[in-house]
Amino acid sequence: MEPSTQKLIHTFGALADLGQEIAGTGDFSEMVRTSMHLLLGTLALRRGAVIECSGPGPLRCVALWGLGDQALKGFEIDEAGMKSFLGCEIAESLVRNTSTGNVFLSRYRDKLTGEGIELVVPMVVRGEVTGLVLLGGKASGEEFSNDDFETIRAMARHIGVGIHTHRLLEQLAQRAEENRRLYDDLRTIYRDTVRAFAAAIDIKDKYTQGHSERVGKYSEIIARELGWSEDEVEGIQIAGYLHDIGKLIVDRDIINAPYHIDAKSSSELNRHPNAGYEILAPIRHPYADIPFMAKHHHERLDGRGYPDGLTDQQIPIGAKIVALADSFDAMTTDRPYRRRRSFEDVVVDLRESSGTQFDGKVVAAFARAILKEVRGETKDRRITKMLGKDYLEGEHVQTLLTDLITDLEGSHAKAQSL
Ligand SMILES: [Fe+2]
Repeated sequence: MEPSTQKLIHTFGALADLGQEIAGTGDFSEMVRTSMHLLLGTLALRRGAVIECSGPGPLRCVALWGLGDQALKGFEIDEAGMKSFLGCEIAESLVRNTSTGNVFLSRYRDKLTGEGIELVVPMVVRGEVTGLVLLGGKASGEEFSNDDFETIRAMARHIGVGIHTHRLLEQLAQRAEENRRLYDDLRTIYRDTVRAFAAAIDIKDKYTQGHSERVGKYSEIIARELGWSEDEVEGIQIAGYLHDIGKLIVDRDIINAPYHIDAKSSSELNRHPNAGYEILAPIRHPYADIPFMAKHHHERLDGRGYPDGLTDQQIPIGAKIVALADSFDAMTTDRPYRRRRSFEDVVVDLRESSGTQFDGKVVAAFARAILKEVRGETKDRRITKMLGKDYLEGEHVQTLLTDLITDLEGSHAKAQSL
C-alpha cells in the first residue's frame, strides 16, 4: 500500500475516533484532551493545546500536551482578535507568518514562538470562534503539508463542534435548573397564599382557631396512610386548608353564633361548600380536584349530607378524607358551648358513623396512622402536637384503636366477599 494511502486511512480512522469521542456523553475536559491527543498522534506533533473562547476576555486552556502548565497563562482575546480569525486561511494561522495582519498572532507572536507553537487554528462554529487549537511542529522536523492542513482543519472543526455542543447542553441544563427553581418558587408562593387564606378563614371563626390548618394536616396524614403519591398528598393538604373557604362569604355572626342557629341561618351557613367551589373552580391549581373536595366535604355516604346529597360511590375520595378530618377536629377541640370529647367517645362515634357518614376505609386508615404514632413508630408526633400531649395517653388508647381497625377492616372484608 502506498504510504500516502496508508496515511489517509490512518487519518480517516482518527477522524472517526474523534467523531465518536465528541458524540460521547462523558466528561467534557476528557473529551477535549482525547481529541487533542488524536490530532497530535495523527500528525506526530510534539506539543499542542486547546483553548476555549466564549467571547472577548481571558482564554481558558482546556487541554495541554508537551507544554508547561503556565505556558498559556494570561492569554486574552478581544473583538478584533476574534475577527481576524474569521474566514482566515489555515496557512495564515502559521505563527511565523507576519504578513497576515492577525491581531492575536501579532500580539502573542514572541510568546508563542518561545513556547514552540507554530500554528494557531481557530475553531469556528456558526460564524463564531469557539476556541483555538495551538500546535507545535512535527516531531520529524518537516514543514506542514497541504494534506496536514486539511487534516488539522477537519479535526479542529470536530473539536469546535464538540465544545459548541457542550456549551449548548450547559446552557440547557442551566435553563432547566432556572425553570425548576421558578417552579419551586411558584409552588411556595401558592402554598403560602393558601395558608394565608386558611388563616383568614379561621380568623373569621373565633372559636375554631387553626381549624383549617389542622384539617389540612389530618387529611395529609390519612392520604399518606392510604398510600397516595407525594403529589396527591400535597393536593389533599391544600384541599384541607381550603375546605371552608366558602365561609368567607357567610355572615360573621352566623359563623360565630354560640348555640344552635335557626333554619334560615343554617341554610345560609350550608351555602359555604358551594360558595367554596365557586371561589376555587376558576383557579388553576397545581393539584387535581381541589374545588370538588371543598364542595363535597359535608356529604355523607348515606346521602343525607349537603349540598348535593351524594352517596358513597358518588363522593370523591378526597372529599371523604377532608370530611373525616373536619369532623375529627370539631370533636377534639373545645367550643364555647361544649368541651371537646374524650378519645373513647370519639372512637365510639367513628365506629357508629362508619358506613353512614364516613367511609370505613378512610376511618381505618386514620386509626392506623394514629396507632403508629401512639406506638412511637413515626418520625415526629404530629397528631399528638395537634391534640395536646395528654389526649392520647394511656394503654386503653392502643386497644381502642386496634379494636376499631379490626372491626372496620373486618366489615370491609365481609362486604367485599358478599
Ligand atoms: Fe365546612
